[in-house]
Amino acid sequence: MSIQFNKNTNSFLLNTPSSSYIIRIYDNRYVLHGGWISRIDDWDDDICSMPLIDRAFAPVPEELHGKADFSLNSLQQEFPTNGRSDFRIGAFEALCADGTTISEFFYESHKIYKGKTPIKGLPATYTKKDSEADSLELNLKDPVTGISVTLIYTVWNDRDVICRRTVVKNDSVSAEGIYKNQSVTLRRVMSASLDFMTSRYKMLQLSGAHARERHAIWRPLVPGIQSIESRRGTSSHQQNPFIALADYNATETTGEVFGFNLVYSGNFTAGVEVDQFNMSRVQIGLDPYNFNWKLDAGETFESPEVVMVYSNKGLGQLSRTYHDLYRDNMCRGEWQYKERPIVINNWEATYFSFNAEKLFKLADKAKEEGIELFVLDDGWFGKRDDDRSSLGDWYVNTKKLTGGLEEIADGIHKRGMKFGLWFEPEMISPDSDLYRAHSDWCLHVDSRSRTLGRHQLVLDLSRDEVVDYLTETLSKILSSVAIDYVKWDFNRSQTEVASGSASPENQGKTSHKYYLGLYRLLENVTSRFPHVLFESCSGGGGRFDPAFLYYMPQCWTSDNTDGLSRLAIQGGTSIAYPSSAMSCHVSAVPNHQTGRITMLSERGHCAMAGSFGYELDLNKLSQPELQEIKEQVELYKKIRHTVQFGDLYRLRTPWDEPSPAESTDYTAWNLVSKDKKQAVLTVVWKFPEGNPETQLVKLAGLDPKAKYRLTCYKSATIRAMLADFPFPIPESEFAPFPADVTTSGEKLMNAGLFIPYKPQYGGSVQIVLERL
Ligand code: GLA
Repeated sequence: MSIQFNKNTNSFLLNTPSSSYIIRIYDNRYVLHGGWISRIDDWDDDICSMPLIDRAFAPVPEELHGKADFSLNSLQQEFPTNGRSDFRIGAFEALCADGTTISEFFYESHKIYKGKTPIKGLPATYTKKDSEADSLELNLKDPVTGISVTLIYTVWNDRDVICRRTVVKNDSVSAEGIYKNQSVTLRRVMSASLDFMTSRYKMLQLSGAHARERHAIWRPLVPGIQSIESRRGTSSHQQNPFIALADYNATETTGEVFGFNLVYSGNFTAGVEVDQFNMSRVQIGLDPYNFNWKLDAGETFESPEVVMVYSNKGLGQLSRTYHDLYRDNMCRGEWQYKERPIVINNWEATYFSFNAEKLFKLADKAKEEGIELFVLDDGWFGKRDDDRSSLGDWYVNTKKLTGGLEEIADGIHKRGMKFGLWFEPEMISPDSDLYRAHSDWCLHVDSRSRTLGRHQLVLDLSRDEVVDYLTETLSKILSSVAIDYVKWDFNRSQTEVASGSASPENQGKTSHKYYLGLYRLLENVTSRFPHVLFESCSGGGGRFDPAFLYYMPQCWTSDNTDGLSRLAIQGGTSIAYPSSAMSCHVSAVPNHQTGRITMLSERGHCAMAGSFGYELDLNKLSQPELQEIKEQVELYKKIRHTVQFGDLYRLRTPWDEPSPAESTDYTAWNLVSKDKKQAVLTVVWKFPEGNPETQLVKLAGLDPKAKYRLTCYKSATIRAMLADFPFPIPESEFAPFPADVTTSGEKLMNAGLFIPYKPQYGGSVQIVLERL
């Protein structure tokens, strides 16, 4: 059992393989935190627990009169509240019948059990067998208002993971006086609150913008609150629902790192408050912005789950723990472990301007190249020739596709490829038949004008009838045509987040109810069509969060497909999310987002860090380019299991690395299959310079005793480009070593591999290692 209760010290020990999380019940009432630390097994005495200190100005609970050294303001707690004796940020706030927002929760009882219980209506990690994890439920109660809170912890036996969530029940039937049988309005319910004894940490967040998502940003903790949030109605491009605290000296491979990732796709907050004693309080949960949840007597409210990961081997280990957990215990369904097909997507090839002939021409070329899945993107429905109309009208645009969707699906299948289709189900264009029939079905406030984003409005998924309508509409298309893949997009932020069907007192529920509705819709559709590979998208990676992975095992990482931009985007994404989940495409140059021209080989190397594909007009390419794509496709088929389901080692990160020679700065990563039989090393130079220093790349994750054969694939386009160079470049010069070489895992990891940069590498090198 990974959870123990010690009756002598009245405390709980939650043990993962390398960490211990301690909870203490003080005076049979106060639920204090005892630390999240490197694992200990002997905890019978209380010697290491935080001493009680009489601090100046410290408020002390009346019931502990005389105990001037007990103040919640300077103690570590599991679920702090405001209005009593803690001035730091509270994990909970509710407006009560007496007009106050004060609450205080005392320990009542607890339950320990094997396995994990699902959350009603919300995505969460799941156990396949009860033996995978144990759970603890701590029941707390405010004796005045009658509100009860259950803190639920799931502790994984073979993973350094603890999942936490909060369940609130309005038990005012048990309260007295003014509170009896009254409703309360929840205004803040954190999924987790966790106090650390020091502030000697760096905080990591994944921030950015559309086309620049999830750049890793580090900052040292300072006194006060440092936090991120999303108020956009999506987990957002701007901030990801993830933060980590890393010991000040932690690196990619050493030191303690604590990760917090909220399983939610809407508004969230995550942050740290450093107090007067340099203690740090981490909190993560639903954003209190626009959240006012009226909870009637007897009703319950469940928070989303937060996935907390511990590593004492640096950030790399933290990432691998998240990756394994999400692949094994978050993703579900037929595609969970299936190798993902190589995609050709027509978006950047044709945008809205296509017909069947043009699509088939692209498909024919893709087939010749060995590509496996053809995705028809935006523009196939209603009368959509640009982004100004038709969202909501999910029937084929017969002006463009005269033979209907069937003709396209059949044609693609006849060519021996899978067929995929783009949808943006949560949206409605004012110029659509759906809007003409149901203009109140979007999020809106009657007395205000409606804010458009990309000329569209957001459907009100807090309404059951809208969710039901979408379930049926999508089911109809997915069962009428043979569709193997769906791209589920969402292309604006939410505004006027209010529902035409909600009473004023329940309007504050709309934002969260939207997501409860969306999750119901996703469950309905994905379970009805289990063979379909679903990919989420939100203008690129605007909703790249663990909640979506519960329904869809992969996500379009960014609309920015520039290989060099992708280093920071994919590198940041890889901190919490596995490569199988990162959809990455090679696109045309000049790149449509950055205007940059990069080598096809480099674009390929960068995109081969995830679920791979292409998004360009193959018919416009030269013979050497087509030759190279064929080779890339062939290679990816050989390495994709390692890439998608292997272990990731970031050898040199695109962020925060001191680089004495910025001009030769490079990023490198190594993906290693679970059985260590194959590895893929990629090195990308961001600013290649003439005659630069020699790079020494030390690999990681290999079998030290085994011998590996190293193969470096050479680029057909670069060779063609340099063919008529004034002085000939020998074939061997296109790779860092003359031909296939063999060497031991030990040497590759300890001595490292010398990669002297040469211009004919085109800015990147990819080496496949096969164990002999
Ligand atoms: C979003 C997506 C793109 C593409 C367009 C279509 O921007 O991220 O990949 O599907 O929508 O409108």
